[in-house]
Amino acid sequence: MAKSVEEVRAEIPFLRTGIIYLDNAATTPTPQPVLDAMLEYFREYGANVGRGLHRATRRATEAFEATRERLARVINAKPDEIAYTKNTTEAINIVAQGLKLRKGDKVVTTVLEHHSNLLPWQRLERERGVKLELVRVPRECLIDPAAVEAAIDDKTRLIATHHVSNAIGSIQPVEEIGKLAQDRGVLYLIDAAQAVGHMPIDVRKLGCDFLAAPGHKGLLGPQGTGFLYAREDRLTGLEPLLVGGGIVEQVEEHTHDLVKPPQIFDAGTPNIPGIIGLGRACEYVLEIGIERIAERERKLTEQMLRIADLEHIEVYGPRGTEQRGGVVSFNISGLGHHDVASMLDELAQIAVRSGHHCAQPTMRLLGVEGTVRASVHYYNLEGEIERFTTTLEQIAREFGD
Ligand SMILES: Cc1ncc(COP(=O)(O)O)c(C=O)c1O
Repeated sequence: MAKSVEEVRAEIPFLRTGIIYLDNAATTPTPQPVLDAMLEYFREYGANVGRGLHRATRRATEAFEATRERLARVINAKPDEIAYTKNTTEAINIVAQGLKLRKGDKVVTTVLEHHSNLLPWQRLERERGVKLELVRVPRECLIDPAAVEAAIDDKTRLIATHHVSNAIGSIQPVEEIGKLAQDRGVLYLIDAAQAVGHMPIDVRKLGCDFLAAPGHKGLLGPQGTGFLYAREDRLTGLEPLLVGGGIVEQVEEHTHDLVKPPQIFDAGTPNIPGIIGLGRACEYVLEIGIERIAERERKLTEQMLRIADLEHIEVYGPRGTEQRGGVVSFNISGLGHHDVASMLDELAQIAVRSGHHCAQPTMRLLGVEGTVRASVHYYNLEGEIERFTTTLEQIAREFGD
C-alpha cells in the first residue's frame, strides 16, 4: 500500500513543531525511517567502508553500496552509473572539471540556471578559455529548444540546463533538448535538483549524458548527500575531483592506478551515514510512489497559484501547472521580499524563502532584486496552502500598494 499524506506527516518529526514548511526547494525535512537507518549505522555497525574484513566494515560497505542500486531505480539507470557526491553542486563540478575541456571548446547553458550550474562553466571560461554561451529566455522563463539549437556550433561540446527552475518553478523541455543534443553529437547535462523525487525521471528517455541531483530535496534524504548519474561510457572518461586513499589499485612512489568508476569518486572517508540514509530515503519515496508525489504537488501548486488573482501580487513564470514544478515565486508591490517572508513567519509560522535564490541572472531577467518563493512536497496539506493564501492576502491588503 502506498503511503498516505497523513502517514508521511506522522513520520516527519520536524513537522511536530507546528511549522508550515513551504521551503522544500531549499531542503526537505527528514522522515523517521531515514533517521532510523542512519542511527542504526551509528549504533550497530559504525565502521569505515571498503577497508577491512571485519563484520562491521563488511556490513557498512554493503549498506553504503546498496544506495547506488536504489538511486538507479529512481532514475532508471544502472547502479554503476551512479557516483555519490555531497550535493548537486559537487556533481556539476565533477563534470565541469572532469571532462578536460580546452580552449576553444564551447559550453551552452541558459540565463535561468542556478549559480551552481553557471559558476563551474564560468570558471572554465576564465581559466581555460572555454567559450560559454548563455541562451536567452522570455519572461515566462521557459527555454525554447530552438534557441538552444541555434547556439550549437561545431565547437560545442556540452549543453547544461536545469530541469525545473528553483527560482521560478518552470519545467523545461529537457527531453527535446536531449534529443537535439544527441542529433548534434553534443553532451547534455541536466541539473535535476528540483526534479528528482518530485516527478518520474527516466534518464534513458531524457537522452542525457549526465544528471546532477541532491539527496536532500525531493528524495527526502539527509543534507550532505547528492549524486551524479553519468551514462556508463561517459563515467569512464571523467577524472575525479579528489584523489587519495580508498580509490587505489596500486601506488608507486610517483605513480598510481585508480579503481574503476563509480568507486573512483569516493576518495577519502565518504559520508557513510548520509549515503545509507539516502538509500532508505529512495525506498521511502518509492513507497509513496513518485507519480503520486508529482500529482499531489501539481494540485497543491494549482492551489498556491490562486494568489496570482490577489491584488498587489505578481507571480512569475508560466500560469498553468503543466509547465510547473511545486515552486511558486512572487512579489507584493510596495513590499520587500524579505519583509513578506518575515511576516509569513511571524504571523503564521509559515516558512518560505526570499532573495535571489542563487539565480541572479534570472532576477535580472525579471527586473527584480529577489522574490518570495513557496515550494511544496507531497506531505504539505491543502489546509496549509489555505493558511498561506489567507495570510498573504492579509499582508497584501494591509501593506501592498
Ligand atoms: C536548480 C538547482 N541547481 C542546483 C542547486 C544546488 O544544489 P545543492 O545545494 O544540492 O548543491 C539547487 C539548490 O537549490 C537548485 O535548486
